[in-house]
Amino acid sequence: MDKRQLYDAIAKRCSRRKYLPQPLSPEIIDQLSTSVERYNQANEFHIQLILDQPDAFQGLRKSYGFFTGVQHYLALVGKKNHPNIQEKLGFFGELLILEATQLGLGTCWIGATYDQKRCNCQIAADEQLFAVITIGYVPEEQSLREQLIMRGSHLRHKDADNMYTVEVQPPMWFFSCLEAVYRAPSAMNHKSTHITYQLNHTITAAVPSLSNYQEMDLGIAKAHFWLAAPKGYWQWGNNAQYLDFM
Ligand SMILES: Cc1cc2nc3c(=O)[nH]c(=O)nc-3n(C[C@H](O)[C@H](O)[C@H](O)COP(=O)(O)O)c2cc1C
Repeated sequence: MDKRQLYDAIAKRCSRRKYLPQPLSPEIIDQLSTSVERYNQANEFHIQLILDQPDAFQGLRKSYGFFTGVQHYLALVGKKNHPNIQEKLGFFGELLILEATQLGLGTCWIGATYDQKRCNCQIAADEQLFAVITIGYVPEEQSLREQLIMRGSHLRHKDADNMYTVEVQPPMWFFSCLEAVYRAPSAMNHKSTHITYQLNHTITAAVPSLSNYQEMDLGIAKAHFWLAAPKGYWQWGNNAQYLDFM
């Protein structure tokens, strides 16, 4: 799927927590698997598409009950302690979310509210499971519970004006990028990524700390920025620069 199609999915995406327990079509499995393979080959992670395995969401813990009908998910497995691994999983995981959105599927990032031990993925000795992304068919309308969870998390969110600093007049497209970053999912909807357009015309992205899923949030925000920008690419790392955009 090209950059423009993924960008268009930004406006359509929101986290979905109620799934229809149906198998994915062979065409969708084929398309998602091809993208997963392409991203895995170029990086130090091993994202796995897990199909027809509800176990990780059927535990007794109340918090797992946020989700119903989950059958399929992406397991975000990567090398332990590898530099920027969580940021990279955030970046490419979000590209997969937007691709799934364009294919008509519902998705949700999950760092905490699932049963890691019952996740049917392969984890080598030097690897770790960092998060999962639920994927599946969803009812067109959000359920009442989904609406309540969404309203609850969106009450907490940061004001858009606190998410960026502009030290000198940026090009107009920069504001489209900020809007795309504002729409990016983040853990607890904290929207912790701060984008700066500096006096010397450099662009940076930073989060206050790399813990509590913020490193993943940074990668997700960078993916949204990149999709909205006419050209350029991010360096990896906290406070790293966006290059070649002139
Ligand atoms: C890294 C990360 C981890 C998340 N972990 C969870 C989780 O454990 N449980 C959950 O219900 N939602 C989780 N979410 C979903 C967020 O709550 C959601 O993205 C946020 O509230 C914004 O809502 P939206 O995605 O509908 O825009 C997570 C999101 C991100 C980016």
